[in-house]
Amino acid sequence: MAKGVKWVQPDPKRKNWYWPTQEAKERAWISDPEVYEKAEADPEGFWEERAQELHWFKKWDKVYEEAPYEFKWFVGGKTNLSYNSLDRHIEAGNGDRVALIWEPEPTDQPGRVLTYSELLEEVSRLANALKEMGVGKGDRVGIYLPMIPEAVIAMQAVVRIGAVHSVVFSAFSAEALRDRMLDCGAKVLITADGYYRRGKPIALKPNADKALSGTQVEKVIVVQRSGSEVPMSMGRDVWYHDLVKDQPTECPAEEMDSEDLAFILYTSGTTGKPKGVMHTTGGYAVQAHTTCKWDFNLHEDDVHWCTADVGWITGHTYINYGPLLNGVATVVYEGTPDHPDYGRMWQVVEKHKVTVFYTAPTAIRMHVKWGEEWPAKYDLSTLRVLGTVGEPINEEAWLWYFKNIGGERCPIVDTWWQTETGATCVQSLPGIGPFVPTVAGRPFPGVRVAILDAGGQELPRGEGGYLVLKPPFPPALLRGLYGDPEKYKGTYFSEYGPGFYFTRDGARIDELGNVRITGRVDDVMNVAGHRLATAEVEDALTQHALVSEVAVVSKPDEVKGEVPIAFLLLKKGAQPSDDLKRELIKTVDAHIGPTARPAEIYFVEDVPKTRSGKIMRRVLKSLVRGEPLGDVATLRNPDSVEDLKRAVGYTG
Ligand code: PRX
Repeated sequence: MAKGVKWVQPDPKRKNWYWPTQEAKERAWISDPEVYEKAEADPEGFWEERAQELHWFKKWDKVYEEAPYEFKWFVGGKTNLSYNSLDRHIEAGNGDRVALIWEPEPTDQPGRVLTYSELLEEVSRLANALKEMGVGKGDRVGIYLPMIPEAVIAMQAVVRIGAVHSVVFSAFSAEALRDRMLDCGAKVLITADGYYRRGKPIALKPNADKALSGTQVEKVIVVQRSGSEVPMSMGRDVWYHDLVKDQPTECPAEEMDSEDLAFILYTSGTTGKPKGVMHTTGGYAVQAHTTCKWDFNLHEDDVHWCTADVGWITGHTYINYGPLLNGVATVVYEGTPDHPDYGRMWQVVEKHKVTVFYTAPTAIRMHVKWGEEWPAKYDLSTLRVLGTVGEPINEEAWLWYFKNIGGERCPIVDTWWQTETGATCVQSLPGIGPFVPTVAGRPFPGVRVAILDAGGQELPRGEGGYLVLKPPFPPALLRGLYGDPEKYKGTYFSEYGPGFYFTRDGARIDELGNVRITGRVDDVMNVAGHRLATAEVEDALTQHALVSEVAVVSKPDEVKGEVPIAFLLLKKGAQPSDDLKRELIKTVDAHIGPTARPAEIYFVEDVPKTRSGKIMRRVLKSLVRGEPLGDVATLRNPDSVEDLKRAVGYTG
């Protein structure tokens, strides 16, 4: 198989537009742009054909069904995500292929490589143990694990027996974990004693203990990873290795209805309370399989490395399900990009001969800062396709990635999607292109999008507006918010009605049909690729006893994309100080986690408000961005603006 391709053919009319070479087209699953037109003419037929590549215990009776606020894919079909990820490949004689490569953070510790057969055995053991605990179809299981093989094993084991996983990012606080476990009503939590971060073991189990007291969680399974001593609660906690030791290595996969719930993943909305995005089985499997295969042009000998954490949708779909559904090797890396030095990621690429590398623009911008000498030390010639996800990528970072990591021969597939869409929806395909900095590409075949204005009118090409998805809704799109059908309708369908899923992103489409995403149009921030609501940070800060009122807005940041900035009014008698700032940061850590720390905290006397008393975040946002403030005369307290200008050093 050809290792990389000679790539660049800049179009003289279009600066920095790249197209696939002939060689790349020949290697690609999809190189004929006709695929778009065919899928547009018959999206249901398109997805039906894609579904046939997977295993179904029973074929569907109907491909798609829609009613207001409700849609179904592969109606009546029976399948299983874990069966398709593991058994299917083993039955095809590929059990000895590598499924999972684990790279621990400490460079002196051995990693782990599991073949598909070995992975299935591990998954089956845990699945049997869960069943023995009384976990059955539809029961929720929490997963609070670091980046270790057991994270993938746990997700696979849960869906294998028809239960529903809800993974919580391991850097989230005890309180965040507690909220999520309570909301989804999990009976069992799978966690670890700890993990390694920058050379040191970090304890995780104490967080779980704090989170779980007084919840309905009956059993806690603890993976031994860091070896740190942890208290085990009698009757509730059990070591993973003791639990699975004597379990049989076979466990039949449950026959799941295509529309049965597979997992719940919490994400930030515009309010302080995260919402449980519900993903079902059949449609998700089909879109995860197809997008992973086509976006990254996966073939059997590929080594796929997605650097996200399993706690995010990117980790769910492109570390676990997507690569495994395609029968390729997936890399699970425990550590950070800068330990023991800035070359760590590239050393891992060289060591495991990674062919597909998928990361976030914020990570690339960090590498840009660290310098091109780090990747230059390693052999990156195995790389074929590069991907980005999570936020708009700026041209400088794109070009740096293209040159220094991809050697100007790998396409950059800029994938737009969301926790809600479950799998990628907009991107260029490696055999079709084009690859253009800041432009994501065309909607995936079978995905219909439009750009609307505020009144719901569809805008012509070239005009910026709001990005919506149109029916038939993509197979992996969420089916609801756990326990809150009204919020589901309100969040996604209140603007334009049930016929349009509102993404809450701004975008425009060029004359060739390529979509350029301009960013969120609501109060959701994108901090270092992590989705976060300004309201969540506000809620956390108000928990501090000395805070009377708080407003959080986002500000662009060179590396992280966006960062939260907090304006705080203290209670009477409280004095601003650096110590208090440190305490406030700790409060945010405790309620959400370090990813939500404000980059700046301003202690102020007042914040701009409307006559009805609502905080004018728009004015604060312009202040921190140095943009024109617009009309502030109608505020209830226009004087507050002058003080704030001084506080933030506004010169706009
Ligand atoms: O604003 C868009 C941005 O990330 C949001 C979704 O965040 P989350 O649910 O955490 O999922 C992130 C990983 C899929 C979107 O509403 N976003 C995602 N991908 C891109 C992007 N913005 C621009 N370009 C992208 N490729």
